[in-house]
Amino acid sequence: MTDRLEGKVAFITGAARGQGRSHAVRLAQEGADIIAIDLCEQIESNPYPLATPEDLKETVRLVEDLGRRIVASKADVRERGQLRNALEAGIAELGRVDIVVANAGILPMAMGDPDPLDFVDATDVDLVGVMNTVAVAVPHLGEYSSVIVTGSTAAMLPNTTDNPAMGPGSAGYGWSKKTLIGYTEQMALHLAPRFVRVNCVHPTNVDTDLLHNDGIYQQFRPDLPHPTREDAEPAFNVFQAMPIPYVEPVDVSNLVLFLASDEARYITGQQIRVDAGSLLKFPHGPGN
Ligand SMILES: NC(=O)c1ccc[n+]([C@@H]2O[C@H](COP(=O)([O-])OP(=O)(O)OC[C@H]3O[C@@H](n4cnc5c(N)ncnc54)[C@H](O)[C@@H]3O)[C@@H](O)[C@H]2O)c1
Repeated sequence: MTDRLEGKVAFITGAARGQGRSHAVRLAQEGADIIAIDLCEQIESNPYPLATPEDLKETVRLVEDLGRRIVASKADVRERGQLRNALEAGIAELGRVDIVVANAGILPMAMGDPDPLDFVDATDVDLVGVMNTVAVAVPHLGEYSSVIVTGSTAAMLPNTTDNPAMGPGSAGYGWSKKTLIGYTEQMALHLAPRFVRVNCVHPTNVDTDLLHNDGIYQQFRPDLPHPTREDAEPAFNVFQAMPIPYVEPVDVSNLVLFLASDEARYITGQQIRVDAGSLLKFPHGPGN
């Protein structure tokens, strides 16, 4: 442990599990206190389970075990008022906010008949949810604060954005992630005079529940009626130039940590991939 974030407070959405939990732990290891929120409920159109209140409690335990403070609440990124209340409760206890990690996301990949509402749910969480997170935080951000938005290589790969054949939920996910590129650049431009930075991280496959579910397995192994994790894992390699099926959450957290720290104090408006060379394999995607 070092102290690259000593004295700073990070506001992290989707913090109950997966990458959000990993970000909370990694930033806490470097001295940050944490304001954590998660929906901790199901969204009907999402075919795999979202996090539970127990998951959020486990994040709290992990951060506190590191000797750091954490204020955790149940809040929905689609509801700006809930986010504002959660953030302000955290600031009341921890005194400030310097880092925003807009990470919460869903991938409502249709398993049966496509439902156009899947597109609405995906964009509400994956795009509007990010904008709400940043909106409630901006009034509290002082000089050298850092906003980190979670995108996806789905924003850049061919056939993963605006593609009705992928189903409305998947198309909504890809379109949201692609739109976050321009959003990041605009926010970075407008916050630069205040020395507030905004960057977007784009992971390839990450070893979390968003990847490990039947809808994704089916997409990677359409040749099988009920593919399992073991069936799908070899096919996951297709996206990366390095021969791996996915990166681990901590691989993304290490980039988030760098962008959150003062080491990155003049890095803003960037799209940075943690993708094991994915875009080198698909150089002509929409964002490339
Ligand atoms: N796993 C991957 O392969 C992958 C790849 C690229 C990008 N991403 C992105 O990484 C981010 C984190 O996903 P993950 O991989 O950790 O998956 P995950 O499903 O484990 O975590 C997502 C978290 O967001 C929470 N959440 C969902 N909707 C919410 C809402 N409305 N309000 C508050 N919280 C909500 C969930 O409960 C869950 O805890 C997402 O933005 C996702 O799109 C994931």
